[in-house]
Amino acid sequence: MTSNKTVLISGGAGYIGSHTAVELINANYDVIIIDNLSNSELSAIDGIKKITGRQDLTFIQVDTCDYEALKKVFDNYQFDSVIHFAAFKAVGESVDEPLKYYMNNLMSFMNIIDLMKKYERPNVLFSSSATVYGESDDLPVTEESPRMPATSPYGNTKQMAEDILRDCANAYKGLHGIALRYFNPIGAHPSALIGELPRGVPNNLVPYITQTAAGIRECLNVFGGDYPTPDGSCLRDFIDIVDLARAHVATIDRMTQGKMEAPYEIFNIGTGRPVSVLELITTFEHVNNLNLPYRITDRRQGDIAALWADVTRANEVLGWKASRSLDQTLSAAWAWQKHLAQI
Ligand code: NAD
Ligand code: WQD
Repeated sequence: MTSNKTVLISGGAGYIGSHTAVELINANYDVIIIDNLSNSELSAIDGIKKITGRQDLTFIQVDTCDYEALKKVFDNYQFDSVIHFAAFKAVGESVDEPLKYYMNNLMSFMNIIDLMKKYERPNVLFSSSATVYGESDDLPVTEESPRMPATSPYGNTKQMAEDILRDCANAYKGLHGIALRYFNPIGAHPSALIGELPRGVPNNLVPYITQTAAGIRECLNVFGGDYPTPDGSCLRDFIDIVDLARAHVATIDRMTQGKMEAPYEIFNIGTGRPVSVLELITTFEHVNNLNLPYRITDRRQGDIAALWADVTRANEVLGWKASRSLDQTLSAAWAWQKHLAQI
């Protein structure tokens, strides 16, 4: 296997990283996973091994903020590409503990870029977020839609990291960067061997729904029923986790095949279809044949009414398109919750 077909995945034991590792392996890439397990468990690595049959998968427990430890990974392994997932992601916590977020999310990324440059490894894929658009006047948002001032330190780390990658890719010859702006990733692998592992009370909608269906939470609060949307609840672009993982494969293909048209590129990764919170709940109930206790409550502070993606660029340039139906996604989300109950 050449280094061109090897990808270092930072944060690869996490939700998006573990699914991406599976899809890269399925596409004949070799992966090296590094993670400090601050928000994940070794069971994810076991899940990847089971799904792919790759018992020899390389996993190294490393904190990407630890420059010397990270440097050893670069000394010991050959790879041309890195996908940088390693970050903290709880929006509310970032407001209470901003330094924790700036330190971890920016330090780890600068270490990665610095070592990619020093070791002449060309390709950096960064996990960005639709949060950079804030409350946009352009709907659906394109990659040219303006970024709004960040409303949380977490969101700010995404904007700052995008800028760091852009500036470095423009300045350092041979370094290429792509930022993928994910919309709302949901669901789990159809095998139910890997999925999202929320800590404590989930902030995100789908883990809250599956935990409510499982009886762990009493009732789902739908935050706001009076938004200026067709049914009064918020609209989002929910992207299936396997589709999202495959977008990373298409992006790494583009980078390793030398197809980039500029040193730094950005792609929206979503479905292009807005779905309301109430529609998502109804679909979950229908595909899984159950009733979900929910009530409409006050709006959650900081939520925006509607955000969904224009995915033309990803469809045309990456040759990638979301293909899994909302039914399939919500059925997999429930299967994963039931799997969690058994372990
Ligand atoms: P996650 O918490 O499941 O995965 C992140 C992984 O990074 C975890 O396994 C954690 O242990 C690891 N990690 C964190 N700091 C580290 C460090 N210093 N060194 C080594 N490992 C470290 O989160 P996720 O949902 O898989 O998100 C992955 C990336 O995608 C993050 O950068 C996140 O901000 C971004 N993102 C996520 C969403 C979402 O809704 N899940 C949306 C947009 C963007
Ligand atoms: C979705 C909708 C809620 C929980 C967040 C981050 C964003 C990105 C993705 C990382 C909203 C409603 C939710 C609940 C509810 N992450 N909801 N009851 O807020 O769109 O985006 O995750 O980059 O940065 O902000 O996702 O899943 O929290 O909410 O009614 O118990 O579900 O009001 O309309 P959000 P979410």
